Amino acid sequence: MKYDVKDPGLAGEGKKRIEWADNDMPVLKRIRTRFEEEKPFSGLNMSACLHVTAETANLVRTLKAGGGDLRLCASNPLSTQDDVAAALVNEYEIPVFAIHGEDRDVYYRHLHACIENKPVVTMDDGADLVSTIHAEYPEMADSIFGSMEETTTGVIRLRAMAKDGALKFPVIAVNDAATKNLFDNRYGTGQSTIDGIIRATDVLLAGKTIVASGYGWCGKGFAMRARGMGAKVVVTEVDPIRALEAAMDGFGVMPMEEAAKTGEVFCTLTGDIHVIRKEHFLNMQDGAIVANSGHFNVEIDIDGLTEIATKVIKNVRNSVDEYILANGRRIFLLAEGRLVNLAAAEGHPASVMDMSFATQALTSEWVVKNRGDLKTQVYRVPHDIEDWIARLKLATMNIGIDTLTDEQKKYLSSWEMGT
Ligand code: ADE
Repeated sequence: MKYDVKDPGLAGEGKKRIEWADNDMPVLKRIRTRFEEEKPFSGLNMSACLHVTAETANLVRTLKAGGGDLRLCASNPLSTQDDVAAALVNEYEIPVFAIHGEDRDVYYRHLHACIENKPVVTMDDGADLVSTIHAEYPEMADSIFGSMEETTTGVIRLRAMAKDGALKFPVIAVNDAATKNLFDNRYGTGQSTIDGIIRATDVLLAGKTIVASGYGWCGKGFAMRARGMGAKVVVTEVDPIRALEAAMDGFGVMPMEEAAKTGEVFCTLTGDIHVIRKEHFLNMQDGAIVANSGHFNVEIDIDGLTEIATKVIKNVRNSVDEYILANGRRIFLLAEGRLVNLAAAEGHPASVMDMSFATQALTSEWVVKNRGDLKTQVYRVPHDIEDWIARLKLATMNIGIDTLTDEQKKYLSSWEMGT
């Protein structure tokens, strides 16, 4: 078996971590049990480019249980948990190509290793597999049944490809499923981003002014949790509806130009490029902490920051680089501008990834069942998959809900009844 991990000797630790996460992933476990019997992926090559974490390990175990011949590479050089990668190879016989801190060349070598097995189903967190296949292996496009996309940034890239007529096989926006973004993006990002900032800096958030850039589900989750820690939260937005929503949720809303002056901790969660730029850094207070929780390390203009810095001291603390500006003020950049929740902490907790990865697993099965019938477009996850996952998750939380009576069903489907 081909693989590339840091140290296979870490497998024991990794296995413990995977099993610990599995305790909090009951929905995925239920799917794994069924897949073991039904083998929906029997004999199929599959590749996944995802954050190599304990939660992802439980997803790939599930796909393998379903008969898939699977390879896994990292979707970010700083999110790989080397012990988990080792355990997947040694304990679960799943080929992994991922090393924490790998450089760009190794990152792409690993990605290529996950394409050279000629997968018919792929899975991305950020669309790197899909875009590399389109750019370098276009001849493979016809044989791909479909590809699942896990994150907002990836879906934005895929929709841009579809709009330009460049997309060559069906893709499914798993990110857009309610069972993914309402929970993972909001509660997962909310908690894990706070966790990453605290692990990196150990600062007290109570009483601090925290600036959240972006008020999509991730920004909403982060702002909500930062407020819960006692911070004064300011939101920056470009979308008027979201800005209004943030204002009516009780947050301060202002342009980054102003927020830069008052903020003490900044976090970008937008999916866009250069949200915090030179002119903003120049307005920041001494000791400002700047982090990103969006998928790519482009949200903070690090080149711009480097240009205006007279001195850069790397690693003043794990995951913290200090930039000293000509005005004497210091800016602390976390995790090299990569997603702070995965680079400085462990990403979203297993309980929320349970829903995201249950959505991935069932959507993969749907793609295989419908192969040949799917068009070259960006699909939504079928509603019955979301419904099933939500019901099972509720059941695992011992929460019951009501069922519509016949009278209520009739009322909801009729239009004659008035005042
Ligand atoms: N994305 C965010 N958190 C994650 C986690 N724990 N595992 C995989 N992908 C993630």
